[in-house]
Amino acid sequence: MSNKQIIMFGAPGAGKGTQAKILAGKLNVPHISTGDILRNAVAQKTELGLKAKKIMEAGELVPDEIMVGIVKNVLFSDECKEGYILDGFPRTLNQAKLLDDIIAELNNGYPVIVKLSVDDDVIINRLSMRRVCKVCGTIVNLNQIKNENKCPNCGAENSFVKRDDDSEEVIRRRLKVYHETTQPVLEFYRNKTEIIVVDGSLPVDEVTNNILKHLKIAV
Ligand code: AP5
Repeated sequence: MSNKQIIMFGAPGAGKGTQAKILAGKLNVPHISTGDILRNAVAQKTELGLKAKKIMEAGELVPDEIMVGIVKNVLFSDECKEGYILDGFPRTLNQAKLLDDIIAELNNGYPVIVKLSVDDDVIINRLSMRRVCKVCGTIVNLNQIKNENKCPNCGAENSFVKRDDDSEEVIRRRLKVYHETTQPVLEFYRNKTEIIVVDGSLPVDEVTNNILKHLKIAV
């Protein structure tokens, strides 16, 4: 059970979402992305979305009490009974401590941490080139697809959109927040659980294979 409970850790653009989607498919557990939950709320103009919009556009963090409430609801739902890939949470020490309370209450074992390491300059390039298909949600890197007007997954044409927080100025701010506030959270897990560190600058399928090898999962 424990290796089907995974926390993806790493800088913005390290490939957490890309790998989380692949792993969720292979392990047959849900991909829980706090960023996606917030972006959906912004798109639907819900109360949460209205609160989060400006914060996200500035590359800052949404308050812990809001995020912990969201994650608690999801982790206690039936869809997470067999495990989950948590992507984008925790991002502060306080979130990590509060997540510990949720994990203890769930009483299903402790998640494994998968940390993707990628240098900042690679990240800035990747995020400037990132597009998301508005039809199927596939994340692409414009440098790595044959036709930049056609989604390689669903075939939709002219369906790529750029995230509002993928401007260079906001990318730099998100990286600063990551290094100052989120990266130190890894220390919290140092003696609590297995931390798998994988080079996230390798090609996508190699990153996936390395994660699976470390998790000792053959699929
Ligand atoms: P969130 O959506 O979580 O964004 P992030 O952490 O900044 O991460 P990204 O989604 O930018 O990157 P990723 O690591 O998933 O990379 P991806 O796979 O897309 O959060 C957004 C905002 O929401 C935050 O700034 C904050 O405001 C708020 N928020 C969310 N959670 C919160 C929390 N817990 N607390 C407070 N606030 C919160 O890949 C990036 C690009 O690289 C893509 O183009 C992809 O195709 C490409 N790529 C991926 N892997 C490779 C590879 N191996 N080789 C080449 N290209 C690759």
